[in-house]
Amino acid sequence: MPSVFFETFGCQMNVADADSLAGALFARGFSAAETPDAADLVVVNTCSVRERAEKRARARITELSAHKKRDGGLRKLWVTGCMAQRLGQTLKVDFPGVDLVVGARDFEAFLANIDDAVGSIGAAQARHAPESEVSKFVAVMRGCDNHCAYCVVPQVRGPEISLPALSVEEAVRAFIDKGVCEVTLLGQNVNSYRDGASGFSDLLRRLHALDGLARIRFTTSHPKDCSEDLIRTVAELPKVCKHIHLPVQSGSTRVLGIMNRGYTRDDYLRRVDMIRSFVPNADITTDVMVGFPTETDADYGDTLALFETVQFTTAFMFAYSRRDNTPAASMTDDVAQQEKQERLARLIHLQTAITAKAYSAMVGKEVNVLVTGRQDGPDGLWMGQDMGCKKVLTACTDCRAGTILPLRVVRSSGKTLIAER
Ligand code: SAH
Ligand code: SF4
Ligand code: F3S
Repeated sequence: MPSVFFETFGCQMNVADADSLAGALFARGFSAAETPDAADLVVVNTCSVRERAEKRARARITELSAHKKRDGGLRKLWVTGCMAQRLGQTLKVDFPGVDLVVGARDFEAFLANIDDAVGSIGAAQARHAPESEVSKFVAVMRGCDNHCAYCVVPQVRGPEISLPALSVEEAVRAFIDKGVCEVTLLGQNVNSYRDGASGFSDLLRRLHALDGLARIRFTTSHPKDCSEDLIRTVAELPKVCKHIHLPVQSGSTRVLGIMNRGYTRDDYLRRVDMIRSFVPNADITTDVMVGFPTETDADYGDTLALFETVQFTTAFMFAYSRRDNTPAASMTDDVAQQEKQERLARLIHLQTAITAKAYSAMVGKEVNVLVTGRQDGPDGLWMGQDMGCKKVLTACTDCRAGTILPLRVVRSSGKTLIAER
């Protein structure tokens, strides 16, 4: 019985891809290996978004290649995802242990012909997926047409394509049949989804009507396409979680312009006001980067001030990383590395306090928590998420993954809520 182990870097899109490949392999007799050493096949699913993401993937491939020589486990090493797309077959030259390279843009075609690739590893009878999860990612779009100046995604994921609403619905139905009760719809700009005449709000309504589905999430929303129609739809549909991930990238209108983001600081703040007025309890979260070429102290100050104003529940914060073949690659990367790190540290410090405040404000409130799993250990608390994006822990005797519990928040740890019946 061949076994497979996945190592996935990068965003949820990569998690969704790994999941599809895992499903195809389990259907062909593979089991899930506990460790890479014990596996007959290891898949390293890579990300290219920042230099560091690639360095980590390279380090891992080096390690796994070394294991491959030493012992009998790990018969095959596949590299998939965005770095596989960017570097292609040269990876096999750099890492002779790599047996197969499949770029993100070739992934669908590869899945359609998976038997060819699996043949050499010797598959047996179909097996069931090891455990059913309650929450799954569903890609509703692929690629991106936005060409933000810093970003490698359009070249590694290709042009933007929306999947037909019918196939999205079929994918969600298939998950519901396996016991999934929450889906997160994925796209680089999920709110620019379009299938013929129907847009993203229509897709939300369509999925909302499915029996057996308790919650719908979606990410990532691009500020330029964040319409009133979408926010009204989020407000109106009870199964749609009240969480909008709205990457701002910078608080400076000048920097947003050279980033080619397609909105100003004021446009962004207007979107935030709109969300707060239609969905008062919404968690708004963001992505941001510091040290983009030419970013001055004043530009950075605009970002800090925007963070003070908006009060994001949480944020993913990065230092700009120059990527080959992007428009920004031809700009001088003129903010010193140390300056970038200092700007990043100060922003993280600010946001950590804002996050703690947002979590503390929940103490005493009632939350509906979807239980997704349990912490390790005999006294492991149950873990879940409220209708926004907040993580919740609770002690519970009759819980299981998939239960939705009405709880009262008794405490906050700064980034987790502790709640009781
Ligand atoms: N489609 C999403 C982002 C996908 S990439 C959007 O438009 O918001 C995830 C995040 O990585 C981005 O939001 C950005 O903050 C960060 N990122 C992308 N390229 C980067 C780069 N070259 N350097 C640093 N951070 C980057
Ligand atoms: Fe990258 Fe911009 Fe597309 Fe997001 S919208 S994936 S940041 S190019
Ligand atoms: Fe995602 Fe990284 Fe690719 S962020 S789309 S896995 S470059």
